Amino acid sequence: MSTTLQTKGLEGIVAAASSICYIDGDRGILAYRGYDIHDLADYSTFEETCYLLWYAKLPTRDELQDFRAQLAGERHLDEGIIRLLKEAPRTATPMEVLRTAVSALSFYDPDAQLVAKDHEANIRKAFRLTSQIAMIVAYFDRIRKGKDLPQPDRSLSHAGNFLLLLNGEKPSATAEKALDIALILHADHEFNASTFAARVTAATEADIHSAITSALGALKGPLHGGANEAVMRMLFKIDKQGGDPVEYVRTNYLSQKKKVSGFGHRVYHTEDPRATHLRQMSHDLGYSSGHQKWFEMSRQIEEFINREKKLNANVDFYSASTYTALGIDVDLFTPIFAVSRISGWAAHVIEQLDDNRLIRPRADYIGPHYPQRYVPMEGR
Ligand SMILES: CC(C)(COP(=O)(O)OP(=O)(O)OC[C@H]1O[C@@H](n2cnc3c(N)ncnc32)[C@H](O)[C@@H]1OP(=O)(O)O)[C@@H](O)C(=O)NCCC(=O)NCCS
Repeated sequence: MSTTLQTKGLEGIVAAASSICYIDGDRGILAYRGYDIHDLADYSTFEETCYLLWYAKLPTRDELQDFRAQLAGERHLDEGIIRLLKEAPRTATPMEVLRTAVSALSFYDPDAQLVAKDHEANIRKAFRLTSQIAMIVAYFDRIRKGKDLPQPDRSLSHAGNFLLLLNGEKPSATAEKALDIALILHADHEFNASTFAARVTAATEADIHSAITSALGALKGPLHGGANEAVMRMLFKIDKQGGDPVEYVRTNYLSQKKKVSGFGHRVYHTEDPRATHLRQMSHDLGYSSGHQKWFEMSRQIEEFINREKKLNANVDFYSASTYTALGIDVDLFTPIFAVSRISGWAAHVIEQLDDNRLIRPRADYIGPHYPQRYVPMEGR
């Protein structure tokens, strides 16, 4: 077996078989369990998408109703978690708090003592984690702003509940639908860094909470989920300086050989199909809310980067202006990515554990040759 490095960053390496997510990076195709992302974004809901990811089929009406009821039944947090959110230092970011709180959720999980490979228990934990992650993100934002903690509403969708718990009032149908679509688009993406991290941890037969905590750590970075926040911070800076967006990006990024967040992708060599929907949403929400400047600025930057670098916008570029049009704070963007991606992470962890083998690759050793002569301390 070869122990030489094939590609840096495992580019193009197939690491395992999976039946969850199909990507064709040349044709810009993304499908969950064979269902095209465009159909899911146009016709499905986040709950139906979760069902599809976890049960490998679309639900019947009754199955979907049961699924929604089960998710609603798990929409509560132990007092210990609420305390943890309240006691986080003022400097803690929502993503740090989410990573820490998800790790702590295992203290209170009724199935915590069951073996990691228990399929049914893992499905129950997936329901809990999906409901709890959304609550943690929303509640922490209210706690840090000194606001009360509203109760969930069983009649609302998962997206609707998130907005209710975040804003303390029922969302408009437009906002609920927009977030629902964003959650569908972010739900899974094959062996991206956070999902791979989750699978590596799961493959040691550690519990699902450990796997999801690993995933959250990986998602945080600006080369992965953190990119959506970086995009918006760049747009805010451009706006504050009042300059031309294209000149700003040319001077502050391209001339300095710095990567522009929200562009490029390891797998897509054409438009990221998720970006197609998010661009439209950013446009529609921007214009309907009267905050179209973020969309307009984004469009100018996108055209420039397409032209200059032949790079396409990825999922993170237009999610930034979309979330801003929904009135969401920048440091919640990456946690909201997790509110959705928990569905894909859970599906992958369960798939890994259902047919597990430890993931343990080799390194191409390039250190000092063997053997080195050991020199005692006095002789160095
Ligand atoms: C996504 C990403 C990490 C993929 O990285 P990768 O597959 O390792 O690609 P590389 O970093 O090797 O980039 C290949 C080339 O494109 C350039 N490039 C890639 N993304 C770029 C970007 N966002 N801005 C400017 N140039 C970029 C690189 O500089 C490199 O050029 P070179 O060959 O002249 O050195 C990378 O495109 C990136 O950092 N994008 C910005 C962060 C981001 O949006 N992440 C979210 C991904 S969904």
